[in-house]
Amino acid sequence: MDYKFVFSVLCLTTLYQLCYGLQNRKQRTSNDDFVISITTDGTYSINIHGKSWLNSAPTFFNANNKTYSAADKTLNLTSTSATSGTDKLGQWQSTSFDYVINDAGKTRFTAVIKTYPSLPVIIFQQVYTDGAKWTQGKTYEDLCGGFPGFQLEGPPGLLGFLSFGGLMFGDTSKKIGLWSNATYRLNDGITGGPLALFDSDGRTLVLSPFNNFMSASFLHDAGIGGNYYGGIMGGVSSVPMGYTQEFILYYDTGINKAFEGWGKLMRTFYGKDPARQQEDMTIKYLGYYTDNGAYYYYNTEKNKTYEQTMLDVRTYANNKTIPYKYVQYDSWWYYKGVDDGVKTWERFPYDGASDTTYAKQNGGTYDFIVEKSKALPVTKKFWDDLFNEAKKWGLVMYEQDWLNVEFSGVQALLHNLTLGTTWLDQMATAADDAGIFIQYCMANPRHAMQALMYPRVTQGRVSNDYSPGDGQWSIGISSIFATALGIAPFKDTFWTTETQPGNIYKRTEPNWKLNMVVSTLSTGPVGPSDMVGATNVSMLMKCCRSDGVILKPQFPIRAIDAQILQAAFNDVDGPDGEAWLSYTQVGGLRFADILVLNLKSPYTLYPRDTGIYDNVGLTDLYAVPYDDPFGWVTFSSLYGLQFDSRFTPSRIAFYHVSQAIPGWFETAILGELDKWAPMSPQRVTSLTWTSSTVTSELVGAPFEQFDFWYILGSKQNAVTCKLGATGAATFMLDNDLGIATCKP
Ligand SMILES: *[C@@H]1O[C@H](CO)[C@@H](O)[C@H](O)[C@H]1NC(C)=O
Ligand SMILES: *[C@@H]1O[C@H](CO)[C@@H](O)[C@H](O)[C@H]1NC(C)=O
Ligand SMILES: *[C@@H]1O[C@H](CO)[C@@H](O)[C@H](O)[C@H]1NC(C)=O
Ligand SMILES: *[C@@H]1O[C@H](CO)[C@@H](O)[C@H](O)[C@H]1NC(C)=O
Ligand SMILES: *[C@@H]1O[C@H](CO)[C@@H](O)[C@H](O)[C@H]1NC(C)=O
Ligand SMILES: *[C@@H]1O[C@H](CO)[C@@H](O)[C@H](O)[C@H]1NC(C)=O
Ligand SMILES: *[C@@H]1O[C@H](CO)[C@@H](O)[C@H](O)[C@H]1NC(C)=O
Repeated sequence: MDYKFVFSVLCLTTLYQLCYGLQNRKQRTSNDDFVISITTDGTYSINIHGKSWLNSAPTFFNANNKTYSAADKTLNLTSTSATSGTDKLGQWQSTSFDYVINDAGKTRFTAVIKTYPSLPVIIFQQVYTDGAKWTQGKTYEDLCGGFPGFQLEGPPGLLGFLSFGGLMFGDTSKKIGLWSNATYRLNDGITGGPLALFDSDGRTLVLSPFNNFMSASFLHDAGIGGNYYGGIMGGVSSVPMGYTQEFILYYDTGINKAFEGWGKLMRTFYGKDPARQQEDMTIKYLGYYTDNGAYYYYNTEKNKTYEQTMLDVRTYANNKTIPYKYVQYDSWWYYKGVDDGVKTWERFPYDGASDTTYAKQNGGTYDFIVEKSKALPVTKKFWDDLFNEAKKWGLVMYEQDWLNVEFSGVQALLHNLTLGTTWLDQMATAADDAGIFIQYCMANPRHAMQALMYPRVTQGRVSNDYSPGDGQWSIGISSIFATALGIAPFKDTFWTTETQPGNIYKRTEPNWKLNMVVSTLSTGPVGPSDMVGATNVSMLMKCCRSDGVILKPQFPIRAIDAQILQAAFNDVDGPDGEAWLSYTQVGGLRFADILVLNLKSPYTLYPRDTGIYDNVGLTDLYAVPYDDPFGWVTFSSLYGLQFDSRFTPSRIAFYHVSQAIPGWFETAILGELDKWAPMSPQRVTSLTWTSSTVTSELVGAPFEQFDFWYILGSKQNAVTCKLGATGAATFMLDNDLGIATCKP
């Protein structure tokens, strides 16, 4: 009987408190490398792989217009206790610190540290046992209380960080750097969070709220150094009895792996299934966009109305057989009110103007909070009626834009603990009832995380608005966050050709190819926005089947760990630019797409850097440059892929990697190399092999025709597949005959 066994037997019983009652203790997680040491005075520290990573900052709570802090003993720790139990995540053990404020009556708070022997997780809880009044912080960016809290301490070197913040799923203000007492202000407040900390080997902690996402915030309490806290957002002035705010710390080795593991746990807990994305036809099919950056954004053809212009787009698309399946109509078509907010969503979202005609205050029929310039609907009936009316015009997806501005612009949302949740609940529930999907645009991290609660929120914008020729294609890092949350990352629209005369931006798009590649591999919508006559149809159709189904990879394109590690540490031999990867797994083999550009210095990428090819042999991987199908090379720990500063947004490095068929001599399926994702599950539905044949079932539009590539015994070739009336064919490689066939 080992020590651990004794520990679990004793400590799952009521003897627990006797064992560990008021002693300093360690709480372990499922990962032996991830331990929290807890001291009975209310302090705690996180140890990773035997090293101390984080020491606690003093717990504090606001009440009665004052801040009570463990730092200056104005917050009194009255007892410490330990207990255990089971919840939705599994078996847990916890340490609780009970605090009390003896001021204008006793007010109790409890800070709890919970660990799960079966999970690499620590949950921190703030429990407002008696509730509290006059809890607001100094500003909206502040907190009502801080727990957990961690010091930014020590010299730079051990730890790096990735701090999400701003709009577009925390993309626009994201920061990467070194974690130390010299670290400048991290993202916090209304637009901040979550945070990842990692060492140069990629051991990673992800810190985020675990519940009440709309009212949870972070606080970095100094311009440099200081402490980083989680709590309730600072505008909230009262918290009801028993209210619990939770944060989660998740650990794994690998930055992408940690976000994936964290996301999977969050999605499982909140019932978010990424498979719902495939029900959203605006994610499944090619569409045409008219939002900011589009040729026809507040712009029509000469001397024509919007209706005529849209009809011309359709005529042109039909003529060129571009299979657009929907059109996105942006803000140009409805009536605007104060500050350009929505007044009436007719003629053809909701950042509501205060003069919205829907509000009872303005003679409408719905309950609204109406403030100086903005208004907020506070009844689901509003959304029901809006969506059901719009469904009659053919609405399939509603883009909720300006989420950040609506949140920070409506005072009630900043003061009220639950109103933000109620607002998004009503919208999402109405969308569910109406059977439409929602895209979040300009979402702060809080909105992004709230989308965990809503199966119908399937997609989110993860970078700024498109502007031809600019850098908003750079979604490699924000897509890590969005994907973890079960949201399809959307790059926004793009042009497919460089020059589009008469455009309102007076710009060109030299990087149209990069934009297409990123859009297609993002797994989000693909929605070009060319002027009539200006689409490069053959290049655009590399995204899709002839019926408009987007050929996506199974797993979205995202920055590899080495890119983030290099950005933080600068000396880890990673790419000092963009290096991203997407992949598809079929038949147990992995097929990757690797995109590299904007490097300042040469970089060689090896299979281990991809995070998806562990234990591959020296002849197991083949890499094919997208623009040179016969230029394939073996890709191994001896022969990495070499990149340098020649690769720019207008001249990308882009490889497709195939894993060899096990047991065959130098044989691999390369797939449909004419597409950006040659082995998409929307084309290749299976891959099996025996010692003499390799078989793949292929699908597409009825009678669709395409070339399918392979390497057999080190010789590369393609076979033309012509699908049958049911849109299916079988590809087969015959080892004995040395040939390939593809038959309906
Ligand atoms: C808190 O401040 C507000 C506004 O200044 C005041 O009305 C209220 O009485 C104060 N409450 C307490 C408990 O001090
Ligand atoms: C903390 O406890 C001390 C001694 O028991 C008491 O004097 C003090 O008022 C308490 N402070 C608060 C903020 O409750
Ligand atoms: C940061 O920490 C290092 C090492 O602990 C210390 O020498 C240095 O003075 C600290 N710097 C600041 C600004 O506190
Ligand atoms: C647009 O209308 C103006 C005035 O009616 C006319 O002079 C011009 O030729 C028209 N332009 C086009 C492109 O049809
Ligand atoms: C497209 O337009 C051209 C020129 O007007 C015409 O000749 C052609 O038949 C059209 N094709 C289709 C598919 O409509
Ligand atoms: C806060 O919003 C909720 C709706 O979520 C509402 O029921 C409640 O009355 C609001 N509280 C205050 C103080 O306005
Ligand atoms: C589309 O792009 C390809 C590749 O750059 C080019 O060769 C072709 O001429 C373009 N076609 C059109 C219609 O712009």
